[in-house]
Amino acid sequence: MSQMVDLVIFGGTGDLSTRKLLPALYQLQRHSLADRLHRIIATGRGVMDSASFREDARTNLQKFLPEGTWDDDQWEAFSARLEYVKIDADSPEDYRELATLLEGSEAPGRLYYLATLPSLYGEICSQLDTAGVVNDACRVVLEKPLGHDLESCRTINEQVAQVFEEEATFRIDHYLGKETVQNLLALRFGNQLFHPMWNNTFISSVQITVAEDIGVAGRGSYYADTGALRDMVQNHLLQVLSLVAMEPPATLKATDIRDEKMKVLRCLEPIDSANVKERTVRGRYAAGAVGGEAVKGFLEEDAFHDANDTETFVALKANINNWRWAGVPFYLRTGKRLSRRYSEIVIEYRRQSFSLFANDPQELTNKLVIHLQPEESISLHTVNKKPGLTSKLKLQPVELHLTDESQSKRDSYDAYERLLLDAIHGDQTLFMRRDEVETAWHWIDSIIEAWEENGSAIKSYNAGTMGPNASTALIAVDGGSWHE
Ligand code: BG6
Repeated sequence: MSQMVDLVIFGGTGDLSTRKLLPALYQLQRHSLADRLHRIIATGRGVMDSASFREDARTNLQKFLPEGTWDDDQWEAFSARLEYVKIDADSPEDYRELATLLEGSEAPGRLYYLATLPSLYGEICSQLDTAGVVNDACRVVLEKPLGHDLESCRTINEQVAQVFEEEATFRIDHYLGKETVQNLLALRFGNQLFHPMWNNTFISSVQITVAEDIGVAGRGSYYADTGALRDMVQNHLLQVLSLVAMEPPATLKATDIRDEKMKVLRCLEPIDSANVKERTVRGRYAAGAVGGEAVKGFLEEDAFHDANDTETFVALKANINNWRWAGVPFYLRTGKRLSRRYSEIVIEYRRQSFSLFANDPQELTNKLVIHLQPEESISLHTVNKKPGLTSKLKLQPVELHLTDESQSKRDSYDAYERLLLDAIHGDQTLFMRRDEVETAWHWIDSIIEAWEENGSAIKSYNAGTMGPNASTALIAVDGGSWHE
């Protein structure tokens, strides 16, 4: 569909819309990329008119836009696109008002962005259908979390599928919108240098770390019922893992890439009662200091007093049982209130089978480190000769940086800009297909069941550290260590 689109945001006054969606849309306009976007219709339960919504949007944008990007003329043009409609998810009259607004529109296409509680997705889709505002030129975007387990995920998918075809359904995982995550495809399949060695003959292990320094204050009951495994591993970490591990796709089309990612998820060895103790670590932050500031422990936060079965940290060892990856552990870890915010993928290569150098330090292996954030960069850890007139040739570690230094600040964009642009243009490549999400839940459910069966203990770690000691032990038993 290459036509003008009206974007309708459910949850339009919520946190995601305020902090991410509206700033991303403003930026698309600023970069002249919003030519297919007609109006932005925010919906919410509060009663207000479009003028008041625009006023709030202006204040919030000035707060959340990156420094130096506010521009009065851009705002004039942007605010002219903004409308507000009050909608209670289950009130048919409210949808009729939306229908009136949409029927008079010049834009034939519609994009419904659901950023409400996922339990409302089914209801919203069915009400849109009843109100007669769904046709072949409509798409729906679904925010995470898509369910709490496989069963609830299937229910949501079923309900949405009653109204929207899979080709019109865009499931967001904002990690897929990050530049360096997309760069994985270019790195792996655009370089003869890496592709032939991307397998278990040359690679000894893979690490994926998503470390956050923030806590969970303000996340209310959502986080208490969710925990790190469901909140981060089920989606972001498994999506990154599947891009790292997938076979070359037949083409770069969405279906081909998603088919290959899906195969990886199907090859994940189950973690169950028999191996959960050796393969997973759960953690929860206690009071500590992050960035020099004292912070409370998770259970000391008002909303989480009773949440003593919620982990804020998880580390695990995943095996991918296929020809390419058999015998290569994939270590994943993520947590809140860790020492600093950073995300990276570390590809560790095997040592050479024989070394010529008497002083060859055993710990110096080749590593490809792909930094996702805060900076986006790629570095290759190698060794070369230590300079100088020493009698023996000595080795020293050297990092080669593969980052494009010419990339200006203006080239960097938020993941939501990329994903909104793709949804407006109808490109599903960076969105999750139904079978991917459900297969990921299937794997995660088995871990959660095993934790329940084993009464798996949550280990404490001080805020400001990199998680419980057991996380170090998880990898040390295999002779490795986390890349810091
Ligand atoms: C969200 C999680 O999906 O991703 C949050 O629900 C987490 O708990 C966030 O903080 C991390 O995103 P980013 O882009 O800041 O790494």
